[in-house]
Amino acid sequence: MRYLILATAIAAAPLAAFAQDDPVAQAIKARQGFYTMLGANMGVLSAMAKGDMEYDEEVASRHAANIEALTQYDLPMHFIEGSSNADVEDTAALPAIWEDMEDFRAKFAALGDAAAGAGDAVRGGQENIGPVLGQLGGACKACHDQYRD
Ligand code: HEC
Repeated sequence: MRYLILATAIAAAPLAAFAQDDPVAQAIKARQGFYTMLGANMGVLSAMAKGDMEYDEEVASRHAANIEALTQYDLPMHFIEGSSNADVEDTAALPAIWEDMEDFRAKFAALGDAAAGAGDAVRGGQENIGPVLGQLGGACKACHDQYRD
């Protein structure tokens, strides 16, 4: 019996951790985690493009494919009402997002367009990474310039 209680407590612990967060804190954590993943995959591609990391076709393709996959996730759903940097701390999301959510979504869709085919495009040589990074980076910047503090 004691084991059963212990097992139940362990299983419930992660759920409890989520339940303690309010929806706004939760949404901010989710979207920042998403961007951290984007950045981590971009970072490896960038290191390879610069020659700081040896070009490896499989590794490059994996990271570019991760970015492609991430852009299929519905990230804008985590930009819920009341979660701008005018409402709460610990976020860089500008209120401008909520003034034109349609454009914000369009900017995210543009990242998806930029990422389409990236997993294959970075194959075939180190020199193929740069153009992909340039395309992706342009889409990151277009949104950051307007919507990130
Ligand atoms: C549709 C708009 C949009 C696009 C496209 C976008 N970002 Fe962002 N990014 C944001 C916003 C808004 C924040 C601030 C989120 C917050 O603090 O709640 C952010 C934050 C970040 C952060 C900081 C995360 C943290 O932990 O605070 C990183 C890193 C980042 N973006 C990288 C990227 C990269 C790399 C790309 C392109 C591959 C990209 N972003 C594309 C809007 C965008």
